[in-house]
Amino acid sequence: MSAIEIVSLAGSIAAVITAVFGLWYQARTLKRKEKELQHKIEYDWKEFQEKYASPEDLTNKWLDGIDSPKEVHEDSLLEIGYPYLAGAPVRRPELFYGRRDLLEECIKCGNGEQMASLSILGARRAGKTSFLRFLEYSLGADRYPQIVPVYLDAQTPIKSCENFYAYMLREAMQALEKRNINIPRAPDLPKEVPYDTLSTFFKQAGERHWRFLLLLDEMENLVKFSNIFDEKFFSGMRALIQIGQVSWITSSFRTVYMPNTTSSPFLNIIQATHYIGPLTEQDARRLVVEPAARAGHFFEEKDIEAILHSAGRMPFLIQKAALLLYKSHISNVRGEEARRQLASSFTLEMQNYLQSQLTHLTKEEYDTLVQVVRQDEIDEDSHALRILQNYGFVEKVNERYQILGETFADYLYRYSKTAH
Ligand SMILES: Nc1ncnc2c1ncn2[C@@H]1O[C@H](COP(=O)(O)OP(=O)(O)OP(=O)(O)O)[C@@H](O)[C@H]1O
Ligand SMILES: [Mg+2]
Repeated sequence: MSAIEIVSLAGSIAAVITAVFGLWYQARTLKRKEKELQHKIEYDWKEFQEKYASPEDLTNKWLDGIDSPKEVHEDSLLEIGYPYLAGAPVRRPELFYGRRDLLEECIKCGNGEQMASLSILGARRAGKTSFLRFLEYSLGADRYPQIVPVYLDAQTPIKSCENFYAYMLREAMQALEKRNINIPRAPDLPKEVPYDTLSTFFKQAGERHWRFLLLLDEMENLVKFSNIFDEKFFSGMRALIQIGQVSWITSSFRTVYMPNTTSSPFLNIIQATHYIGPLTEQDARRLVVEPAARAGHFFEEKDIEAILHSAGRMPFLIQKAALLLYKSHISNVRGEEARRQLASSFTLEMQNYLQSQLTHLTKEEYDTLVQVVRQDEIDEDSHALRILQNYGFVEKVNERYQILGETFADYLYRYSKTAH
């Protein structure tokens, strides 16, 4: 090989090496740029999510990463807590007493050939929410696989009809999801959906033989916002029973009419009205005895009598009185002394509650109550007397009307003397 050929070969080799190196360098630069870009996209996406994800998404995501607290054995919980619950609605079925007839009625509404709707009326703290929650629990998927109870709270803050439709749809989908472990997780919904989305859901679920029992608590709250929930809204709610397999169980203090009227598009679908009144004597007694017994505490007969004498048979009052006596006993005050304390501390504790009950009554109802407490002559056929019996304020014993619960009777007697 000549010198010229050697130089030219070396030149070619150098050119190839340079080209290969150049390509390698370019590839490396591209790879680095790609990595940088990828990183930037990931970063921007994260920033975008954090900036625009809804607060619910963020809190849910945060909660998803948190484990449940470690389980505490039931017995030790009872040792720490109190066996009575007086205030919040009852959520644990074993703490719910009585109301079996009403429960049967409601289950029949969902289970009959054709579904039917009911209205439940009850005074403040009578146990309306507790009952609806117990009904929800009682309609277990194992016994009633086709009925989906959907608890709806009309006290939930609602901004528009579309907002309420979205709330209803979300609750119905979640209730359906709970029934059936084999279905995919219900999708997240926007805060507002049109009525058609809701009605189509019930229509299609009905075609698949799902029945929905809509348990609407605190219904009177909806008519308070007549600027939002107008006649058209109530007609739409009523129409759902024709569109799908749907019925309503509503709860309120009074029958709910449209503002300034004595009618509502809803009323004519209600098959029957039931009252949540006092417990039967047997259930009232069980409510006194069993919770304490579960906590290893046994009231003597005179204690049980003292509680029922002071409280009457409305479960909220029983729970309050039983709790007070239970607390005295565990702080080692017992017997007559504890029962005396119960009488005075119960009156004091219940004052605001009793007063608020009176403010919810009509004048006719209040006057009738006062006649009963004073043992004046009363009109036995009066509408007010019947309503007071239904609510559990008054009962007839041995041909005489009396106020349920000595504490309420005493309070009313004193109040009627001072009130104008
Ligand atoms: N069936 C029941 N068994 C045992 N306790 C009950 C029962 N029903 C109601 N209670 C008692 O009454 C309290 C009030 O119940 P709940 O909140 O369900 O009444 P409500 O009628 O929904 O009241 P509100 O008028 O305030 O909505 C509960 O904390 C509980 O102490
Ligand atoms: Mg309630």
